[in-house]
Amino acid sequence: MKFGHFDDRNREYVITQPDTPLPWINYLGCQAYFGIISNTAGGYSFYRDARLRRLTRYRYNNAPFDFGGRYVYLRDEESGQFWSPSWQPTRRELENYSCRHGMGYTVIGSTLGGIEAHTRYFVPLDENLEVWQLTVTNRRKSKAQISAFSSIEFCLWDAQDDATNFQRNFNTGQVEVEESVIYHKTEYRERRNHFAYFACSEPLAGFDTQREAFLGRYRGWDSPAAVEAGQLTNSVAHGWAPIGAHQVKLDLEPGETKQIVFLLGYHENPVDQKFDPPGSQTINKALVKPTIAKYLDPVKADAAFERLRQYWDSLLGIFQVETPDFHTNRMVNIWNAYQCMATFNMSRSASFYESGIGRGLGFRDSNQDLLGFVHMAPARARERILDLAATQLPTGGAYHQYQPLTKRGNNDIGGGFNDDPHWLIVGVSAYLKETGDWSILDEPVPYDNEAGSEQPLYEHLQRSFRYTLERLGPHGLPLIGRADWNDCLNLNCFSDTPGQSFQTTTNKDGKVAESVFIAGLFVHAGRELAAIASRRGLAAEATSYLAESAKMEAVIREHGWDGGWFLRAYDDFGAKIGSKDCEEGKIFIESNGFCVLAGIGLEDGTALKAMDATREHLATKHGIVVQQPAYSRYYLNLGEISSYPPGYKENAGIFCHVNPWVMIGEARLGRGDAAHDYYSRINPSAREEIGELHRCEPYVYAQMIAGKDAPTFGEAKNSWLTGTAAWNYYAIAQWILGIRTTLDGLEIAPVIPTNWPGFTATRIFRGVTYNISIERKGEGNLIALSVDGKPIEGNVVTPPADGRKEVTIKGILS
Ligand code: GLC
Ligand code: GLC
Repeated sequence: MKFGHFDDRNREYVITQPDTPLPWINYLGCQAYFGIISNTAGGYSFYRDARLRRLTRYRYNNAPFDFGGRYVYLRDEESGQFWSPSWQPTRRELENYSCRHGMGYTVIGSTLGGIEAHTRYFVPLDENLEVWQLTVTNRRKSKAQISAFSSIEFCLWDAQDDATNFQRNFNTGQVEVEESVIYHKTEYRERRNHFAYFACSEPLAGFDTQREAFLGRYRGWDSPAAVEAGQLTNSVAHGWAPIGAHQVKLDLEPGETKQIVFLLGYHENPVDQKFDPPGSQTINKALVKPTIAKYLDPVKADAAFERLRQYWDSLLGIFQVETPDFHTNRMVNIWNAYQCMATFNMSRSASFYESGIGRGLGFRDSNQDLLGFVHMAPARARERILDLAATQLPTGGAYHQYQPLTKRGNNDIGGGFNDDPHWLIVGVSAYLKETGDWSILDEPVPYDNEAGSEQPLYEHLQRSFRYTLERLGPHGLPLIGRADWNDCLNLNCFSDTPGQSFQTTTNKDGKVAESVFIAGLFVHAGRELAAIASRRGLAAEATSYLAESAKMEAVIREHGWDGGWFLRAYDDFGAKIGSKDCEEGKIFIESNGFCVLAGIGLEDGTALKAMDATREHLATKHGIVVQQPAYSRYYLNLGEISSYPPGYKENAGIFCHVNPWVMIGEARLGRGDAAHDYYSRINPSAREEIGELHRCEPYVYAQMIAGKDAPTFGEAKNSWLTGTAAWNYYAIAQWILGIRTTLDGLEIAPVIPTNWPGFTATRIFRGVTYNISIERKGEGNLIALSVDGKPIEGNVVTPPADGRKEVTIKGILS
C-alpha cells in the first residue's frame, strides 16, 4: 500500500494520506538555520546546533506521535468551525489533503467546506529564517469570513535544559510584541545576544504569547480555546511557556485568494548594541527589521524560493543518469543526493529518531558522509575535513564525536574506536579524487584543537595509518579498542551493570581482541595513502604503505579466513567471532563486504567464496543482515550487539549502511546482476509499494530494516541520518554505473545488470561536463571507450588538455 506518489519532474514526494505509518519528514535549510518538518507540519527549528540553539519546542515520542510544529488554524467565522489544513493538530477530516516534500521546502494543504488552504515552508538561502506562505482560496459560491491563526511554541534555547529544568525555566520566559512581530527574548537580558522572532505580513486581529492563554487550561494544540472562541487574547508571556500566535481576518469573495506571509527567524545583535534605547531592556530591532520587511513581501519571498530551486537544480545537475530502472534514476538524480546533503548538514544530530540533544558529529560518520556529498559541496567538504582532522589526537586516534557549535572533541563519548582514524584517509582521498585540490594536504591542522600543535594535514594521515601499526594484537591483526565500525561489538566492555554505556565502559585492557574488519579497512586505507604519497613524490613512503597493506593482507589470509568466509574478530579470550565454529554469529557482513571491497582475495577465489557465503547465509528479500545466526541472549564478552532482540539493529538487523559494501564487492567480482539486485532490495523507492510494512519514508534510506529473525521482518527504522545515504550513492554511482573519480581523472567502469541495454549520464567533474553514454553489446564488463569520437587506451578519461568544458564519452560494453 502507498501513502502518496513520486512527482519526479518537480522533484517532490506527494503524500496524499495524512496518517502515514510514521511522521514522514523533510529538512528545511541547508546552511546555518535548519528545521525538520513532517507531513502534518510537525517539527522544530534551530540555528546551527540542534541542542544548544533550539528555536521551537517539539515533543518526542508523544502520543499521538509528532507534536509541536508550525501549525496554522482556520476558523469559519459564520459556523465557528475550525481546523488545520495540515491535518495535525486538529485532525479533522479533510478533502484533497496533500503534502509535497521537495528540495528544501514543503507545501502542505487541503480543502474543507469550500475553503482551500496551502502553506509553503522554506528557508531562503543565506538567511537565518523560515518563510511560511499561507494561501487561502474561497471555493464557495458565497463570501467567506475566515480567521487565520499561526502558532509555534518557543524553546528556551538549550533543548536539553528546556525539557528538564522547570524550576528555573517557568520563570525566565520573556517576549516583546511590536506591530505584527512577536520577539522571543528569554535570557536576552543577561548573557545572550540572540533572539527569535515570529512575524506576520498582515495587520493583526490579535496575538498570543502565553501558551495557557492560547490553549486554555488542560487543553492541547488540537483545540486551542482562543481559536475556538475566534479571538486571541493579546497575552504577554512572563515566565511559563512563551509561544507565538497571530490572528488575521480574511474576507474572501467567491473565487478569491489571499496570501499571508509568516516568518520565523533567528537574529544576533552585536553585544554592544543589544538594547534600544541603550541602557533600556528593550531589544534593538533596527538591524533585523530590514530582513523582516524584505521577506514579508510575497514577491521577494517568491524570488527567494526561486533562488532556492535554482540552487538545488545546480547541485543535482552535477550528476544525472538515465538508466532502464526508474527507481535507480529517481534515487541517484534526486533523493539519494538530497539525503547525502542532509547527512552532511545534520550528521546524526536531528531527525525523528535523533533527538538533536544526544549526538554531535561522528568522526567516522562524517568522514564517510564525504563520499556522498563531496561533488556537490567541495568547499564545505574541505572545511569539514579540516574540522574533523583538528579533533584528531596526537596518537593518531580520534574523539568519536565533536560538537558542531564548538568544533571540539566530545570527551563524554570518548575515543579509542580503533577504526576511526582510517576513515580520515578514506574521506581525504575521496576529496582529492573529486577536486584534485592537493593544497589541502599542506594545510596546517592542530591535534586536539591545541594551538601550537599544527602540522600539515598530510601528517594527520600518516599518524592515522601508524595508529594501527602501533596497536596490533596476538595474531598481528588490529586491536579493536572500544569497537570498530560496529559500535555494538564491544569486546573489551564486559558490562554487567544496567545503564552503563557500552561505548565508554572498559573492563579489559584491550590487548587481545582483534578486528578483521579493521584489517580490511587498513589494507584499503594503506593503498589509498600510498597513491597519495607517491603523488607527493614520496616514493619510498608509498612503497612502505603498500608493503604494510600486503603484510596485513597475508595476516588476514592466515588468521582472518575461516575456510568459507572472512572471520569477524577475535574476542578477549582469543576466541573466534564470525566462524563456522561459533554457535551464534557464525558469519558477519562487515568483514566480508569490506575485505572484498578492499580487493582482498579477488585473484585466488576467496573473495568469490566470501560473497557467495554472504548471499547464502545473510541475504534476505529485504536486504542483507549483519550476521547469522542472531544472538539469542546477552553475551558479556560481545557487548551491545547482543543487547538487541534478534533481528534488530546490529543484532542481525539489515543495517543498510553496510549493504553497499557487498554491492561493491559484487561489482569488483564483475557480477552486475547481483550488485544491482542488492541495491534494489533496500532502495526506498522500490519499496514504496510495501509502505504498510516498510513504514518509513519511501524517498530516503533508513539506517535499519528489521532482519528475518524479527517479528517485524521488513520494517524500516531510523530514516534519514545514516551512512546508508553516502554509501549507496557511492556504490551505485561509482561502482555499479562505474563512473568513478580517481586521482588522475574519471574512470569509466560500469558493472551493470546483463539485461540493461546501456545507460546515459552527465557528470560535471573538475569544471568539465562529461556526457556519457554506455551501450551494451555483449554480456560482460569489458569496456572500449572513445572520447569525442576518438578511441582511447584504458578506461580513465583525463581532463581535456585544451581546456574544453564539454566532453562526450562513448563506452561499448562487451
Ligand atoms: C550508527 C553509527 C555509526 C556506526 C553504526 C554501526 O549508524 O552512527 O557510526 O558505524 O551505527 O554501529
Ligand atoms: C547504539 C546503536 C548504534 C549507534 C550507537 C551510537 O549503540 O545501536 O547503531 O552507532 O548507539 O552511540
